[in-house]
Amino acid sequence: MTISNPSLLIDLNAVTKAYQTDAGFFMALKSIDLHINAGEFVAIVGKSGSGKTTLINMITGLDRPTDGEILVGGEKVEKLGENQLAIWRGRTIGVVFQFFQLLPTLTTLENVMLPMDFCATPAFSERRDRAMELLRLMEIEDQASKLPAKLSGGQQQRVAIARALATDPPILAADEPTGNLDSRTAAAVFSLFERLISLGKTVLMVTHDPDLARRAGRQLHIADGVIVDDVEGRQVYK
Ligand SMILES: Nc1ncnc2c1ncn2[C@@H]1O[C@H](COP(=O)(O)OP(=O)(O)OP(=O)(O)O)[C@@H](O)[C@H]1O
Ligand SMILES: [Mg+2]
Repeated sequence: MTISNPSLLIDLNAVTKAYQTDAGFFMALKSIDLHINAGEFVAIVGKSGSGKTTLINMITGLDRPTDGEILVGGEKVEKLGENQLAIWRGRTIGVVFQFFQLLPTLTTLENVMLPMDFCATPAFSERRDRAMELLRLMEIEDQASKLPAKLSGGQQQRVAIARALATDPPILAADEPTGNLDSRTAAAVFSLFERLISLGKTVLMVTHDPDLARRAGRQLHIADGVIVDDVEGRQVYK
């Protein structure tokens, strides 16, 4: 395969998503073109219902486009089958949600180790150390043996980010990761994303918080399923 721009990591061409509703088809994304390079920190902003989650779901392969092409790391995401998708996601893109979605019966450490077991990477003997290292990176290693219910929201989100990084994917996609956190905790979680950028990751983050969005390197504004503005902001990466 020829990649004209070697640092191009996420490449959407004329991506359309139509949902079937009682009233007929609803166009949630309308022929989106989007190109993201490795190392970018992209904030996705827009009103409720504008298509932010739909866009993230297309890039992570959590849902499929109605039309168009999505290349992530050179792989055509819409062509992957369900089993291939799960493995591909583990290798390529970690996903973080607003409500953390940790498994309640597993400890913090076990939650972080889960994707490693699923993707069989890293080697079995390294998984525990790797999970602890990620908890340290998220400054939450002292909570390793606790159940999620014993943690604060901000702590749970740190665990969820550690889990998303478990198999060392180059991309992290987060859908309103700070939406359920108070503003101080949100700022602390946000600075963890900045740290990941400095470690060479690519981060996509949906947010309703304009102050946080401004701190990302690039802001995508979405309205009615269209990217209406694409602003290069502060460069947070080296
Ligand atoms: N499964 C679905 N079936 C039908 N319509 C849907 C479905 N999912 C989303 N939509 C519609 O598509 C549009 C975009 O939804 P989406 O969830 O992407 O918005 P959003 O920007 O993430 O909003 P929010 O800020 O509230 O999370 C909305 O009008 C929504 O009602
Ligand atoms: Mg949403």
